[in-house]
Amino acid sequence: MANASGLFTPSMRLSSSLGLNPSGFCSSEVIPKRVRCFSSLSQGVESSPPVESRVPRLVSKGCKLVGCGSAVPQLQISNDDLAKIVDTSDEWISTRTGIRNRRVLTGNESLTGLATEAALKALEMAQVEPDDVDLILLCTSTPEDLFGGAPQVEPDDIQKALGCKGNPLAFDITAACSGFVLGLVSASCYIRGGGFKNVLVIGADSLSRYVDWTDRGTCILFGDAAGAVLVQACDSEEDGLFGFDLHSDGDGNRHLNAGIKENEKNHELGTNGSVLGFPPNNSSFSCIKMNGTEVFRFAVSVVPQTIEASLAKAGLDRSDIDWLLLHQANKRIIDGVATRLEVPKDRVISNLANYGNTSAASIPLALDEAVRSGKVKQGQTIATAGFGAGLTWGSAILRWG
Ligand code: ACO
Repeated sequence: MANASGLFTPSMRLSSSLGLNPSGFCSSEVIPKRVRCFSSLSQGVESSPPVESRVPRLVSKGCKLVGCGSAVPQLQISNDDLAKIVDTSDEWISTRTGIRNRRVLTGNESLTGLATEAALKALEMAQVEPDDVDLILLCTSTPEDLFGGAPQVEPDDIQKALGCKGNPLAFDITAACSGFVLGLVSASCYIRGGGFKNVLVIGADSLSRYVDWTDRGTCILFGDAAGAVLVQACDSEEDGLFGFDLHSDGDGNRHLNAGIKENEKNHELGTNGSVLGFPPNNSSFSCIKMNGTEVFRFAVSVVPQTIEASLAKAGLDRSDIDWLLLHQANKRIIDGVATRLEVPKDRVISNLANYGNTSAASIPLALDEAVRSGKVKQGQTIATAGFGAGLTWGSAILRWG
């Protein structure tokens, strides 16, 4: 039930006729044009409120992607550039990963600046005024403020830079390379359940700040970027998010992490059990540690499964996929998943060669380039999937436009 703040309370009654499917998305065929949720403020949980005392709250049933944008730093680092600082070669990197270049934040550039630029482009394409945005989700694992990058204080304030005067809700979602897919699904839930209308989902990461530039196993993979989409409420007939599937497995965390530095943990005990670690040390994070082989195996195994699950929830088939858009981590992973799903090569979107693995930014960055180049057209169906640290993974089947 929707309460005065727009949140659902446990007393909410959802009729089976609303057609909520296991994905959490509503199936458009069986949904009435407008869904009413009723205030629980004046009614007991057990009794059915009389019609006249109901406080109608219109909840949108559909959401669609209406704009996208992206931004990358100026500095480009090639494989040959990396071969000057670690024992590697262009041949090894391009053969094993498909990556040839990546961008790295330098000088006055900031992650918030990239995120803002990407978001402004998405708003411009969507023809939505910044003031009409009612939620900003910044999907990042590398915020420039520990308390969250989305609502940062000036001078790098995304809200103010965008021109949102009404203090829309803005917060971060931290899920590494799965962040954008989680953000997309979260946006749809806020729209469908919370009455939000225009949600900016920004994927932005600067993993270059957490890479060990002496470790050839990881430093060749990552780059910095930002991408954004505007997800907008719409009627069920126009619904463009058909199904999703999300997972995490904390056991796999040992294969990929960037934890708090061991020597900064405060777990020392005195001989009599007294705590010695006070006052605590100030903390910082260690560089990315990854067992590439294990993460590779994990990705090629779970990504086809999660896409199949999303397709099933959407009531669609592999042949309905116009474009396969995976997190851009490794060309061999992308090719392997496409082969398993029998998606032809010319239906796979990839810009990995130019940017490397840009974590939460990789999917919206590739989407933006594909849309602006005319490759992805209005009304086409995209199967997208993210995977990475956590371990987390998930997918969504969506329509562009
Ligand atoms: N240049 C030259 N040789 C190298 C390099 C390099 N940059 N890196 C590793 N090697 C060597 C290794 O030392 C090893 O040598 P050895 O056989 O003498 O011991 C050999 O190449 C093979 O190493 P592997 O690690 O087995 O190479 P692999 O084929 O697995 O490729 C890679 C490594 C590219 C990292 C791959 O495992 C991969 O892409 N994994 C997935 C990463 C990923 O998808 N991450 C996504 C999530 S990221 C996030 O969430 C933040």
